[in-house]
Amino acid sequence: MSEVGNLDLSQPIDLNDPGASAFLGDLQGNILKSHGRRKTTNLFVTFTGEVADTKALLASLAADGTITSAAEQKKQRDRKENGQPGPKGEAPGEETATFLFLSAQGYSYIGETAPEDEPFQKGMGRADADLGDPAQSAWDEPFNAPSEAPIHALLILANENSSSLDKAASDMQERIVSAGIRVVGKIDGRGLKNGNGHDVEHFGYVDGISQPLLTCSDVQEASDNATAANAKADSLGAPKSVKPFDPSFSPEATVLVPDPLSPKGGFGSFFVFRQLEQNVDGFKKAEAELGKLLPKGQEERAGAMIVGRFEDGTPVARYGEEIGPIGPKGTPDNHFSYDIDPDGEKCPFQAHIRKTNPRGDVERQFGAGPEAERRVLFPRRGVTYGSRETHDDDVLNEDASHPSGGVGLLFMAYNKDIARQFEFMQRDWANSPTFVTGNPGIDPIIGQSGQSWPENHGGGAKVVHDFHGFVRMKGGEYFFAPSLSGLQAL
Ligand code: HEM
Ligand code: MN
Repeated sequence: MSEVGNLDLSQPIDLNDPGASAFLGDLQGNILKSHGRRKTTNLFVTFTGEVADTKALLASLAADGTITSAAEQKKQRDRKENGQPGPKGEAPGEETATFLFLSAQGYSYIGETAPEDEPFQKGMGRADADLGDPAQSAWDEPFNAPSEAPIHALLILANENSSSLDKAASDMQERIVSAGIRVVGKIDGRGLKNGNGHDVEHFGYVDGISQPLLTCSDVQEASDNATAANAKADSLGAPKSVKPFDPSFSPEATVLVPDPLSPKGGFGSFFVFRQLEQNVDGFKKAEAELGKLLPKGQEERAGAMIVGRFEDGTPVARYGEEIGPIGPKGTPDNHFSYDIDPDGEKCPFQAHIRKTNPRGDVERQFGAGPEAERRVLFPRRGVTYGSRETHDDDVLNEDASHPSGGVGLLFMAYNKDIARQFEFMQRDWANSPTFVTGNPGIDPIIGQSGQSWPENHGGGAKVVHDFHGFVRMKGGEYFFAPSLSGLQAL
């Protein structure tokens, strides 16, 4: 356990604790808790100027408050909740959050020591991690040319209001170009929601429900939701887990990395960015084909077995075929583990959320302690990209078009240790046909290396539907989000 002052970093952090304020003022936002905006501009940049000018510009972004600390993010949220304007007169809820990330190539350009982590130092394209990614030369711009146009840094700007966001992004571009920092790629995140107001991804499923939680307020909220979920389950006769998923995680073990640039012991975090294109048309057709194998009226359960949740977020392990989707208005149920479905009869072992968070399966199958699987989990901070024909700009309707490309997920995640967390989850869980037991096949959403769907959802190997390639990796990079004191020391 390490402490900063009297702050215990091995427990979720109380954002209101005065003893945490120095720590929170030095840590970038979005690490402990999501910035919460649905619209983002992601600027991938190459350094071309003098090293001294580059460093001075990066330092100034930290010094003048442009980069949003965890403390400032909390203040913005409070102002939004109280309907108060921002300090620059921004309408309530329309303050821009800004985050800065450096790649290993970025550290090397400015001649500074990069934090230690093997995948980070090699870069996503060169990491011989065996993730099943296409070769880097086949990726999209700006990710495919590490020698001509290396990505040295990433700037993420976020705002609920697109015109405020566009203004902030063009101000930022003007400011950085003066130091020879060139934008080589600009990708807009454009969050979607469903009719219940929940965030959804392009296949139409509620996303962002289950996360390792790193702040006291998030843990408290999850505990309230758990109580409500159990009451609902009781009223519907759904089973209760003896050992439900515990969403409370240690920030120190999950995301926090000592920042080598910081003169005062500040922290940063590794950041995984992957552009994952989704073939909605192909996926929806395959999902419908699979649905035809199920009893009439239960077609929706096909998708639920692919993802592990119905489209509305209802976990299929708990509500299965007897109850089906429960149409949550509040937060979808996350208070369960697979002790209610140990043999994968309701939620197959290959379902996306079971592959990526086995909730006790590793302990049941291998006799390992709970940490053996919890140490792999990490907070996801992704947002969807690309546009669809929808009635409203942000709401994904039933009759929205089904594009075969051009839309997808900007997968983003903070890690303490990329090899132990993101790479392990992708390679050893999602891509492994034999994880967690028998031969369930690979993750039908993100498994790379030949996706298929065994007819017998438990252990059989007969392929009836090919789920290959509905999610395509278009490129990405590993970054580090330095502390504010570290940036200011440049
Ligand atoms: C959960 C979709 C990529 C890891 C989910 C959920 C959906 C989803 C619908 C359920 C919401 C929730 O439980 O929070 C997708 C899509 C992807 C994608 C469409 C690609 C286009 C990834 C990748 C990873 C990943 C690349 C990691 C390698 C997870 C994890 C969960 C999750 C850890 C939570 C599982 C749990 O705690 O039960 N995803 N995902 N996802 N996904 Fe993905
Ligand atoms: Mn459907």
